[in-house]
Amino acid sequence: MELNLVMLGPPGAGKGTQARQLRRRWNIPHISTGAMLRDAVQAGTPLGREVASIMESGGLISDDVITRVVTERLAEPDTRKGFLLDGYPRTIPQAEALDRLVAGRAPLIIIEIVLSEAEVVRRLASRMVCAECGTNAVGEGTQCYDCGGPLVPRADDREQVVINRLKVYHEQTQPLVDYYGRRATYCRVDGARLPDDVTADIIAQVEERASKLTA
Ligand code: AP5
Ligand code: MG
Repeated sequence: MELNLVMLGPPGAGKGTQARQLRRRWNIPHISTGAMLRDAVQAGTPLGREVASIMESGGLISDDVITRVVTERLAEPDTRKGFLLDGYPRTIPQAEALDRLVAGRAPLIIIEIVLSEAEVVRRLASRMVCAECGTNAVGEGTQCYDCGGPLVPRADDREQVVINRLKVYHEQTQPLVDYYGRRATYCRVDGARLPDDVTADIIAQVEERASKLTA
């Protein structure tokens, strides 16, 4: 069946980390708006030039611009069996736009990853990413596990920017917990555990919700 998943959660909650496991489990594309925008910035496209300074400050780019990007991506044939959205929607207007976009498709299954602010700050202060491909570093090495590129801090992980990203999350994104929270397809997981334990919890909850949709 079609699995249309949305990951919610503060910066550093582990959305990207979990998505990398989950896309293999269900063989659906991982659509990270943050990664798409970072690629556009690195490539110097018109979109990248438009959003670079906003991303660097930890603000949100406009609902219209990001919804256009997502609309085009969800029209690709590889999403026919489902998709795993990471970083979209982030505002109520984006959530309303997504509901319109998926009308007539399988219902959205929402995964909220819960993590305290203290843990967010701790994780992002030490995160390293590949300067070439953007993948999070794993372990202690100095080179990317995937492509061998050099590891650097992510541009928006400076402490002041993380504080702003958290503020933006509380003001603009957390209302989505209420927007989606009463749906029967809402899943909530504790993100403060070992990554494999978080993955197992997500898989169990999502497959339970999905089985009820087909019943
Ligand atoms: P985006 O890239 O989406 O960033 P974010 O939401 O701030 O989230 P992160 O990617 O920092 O965290 P994550 O939850 O993916 O955690 P991760 O798995 O990496 O957005 C970036 C920017 O793009 C936005 O600020 C905005 O400007 C713009 N943007 C994007 N989408 C937009 C939209 N829809 N509208 C408007 N603007 C938009 O993990 C973090 C760290 O923790 C890693 O080091 C990881 O190894 C570690 N970790 C993960 N899980 C665990 C665990 N279980 N235990 C211990 N450590 C863990
Ligand atoms: Mg991420």
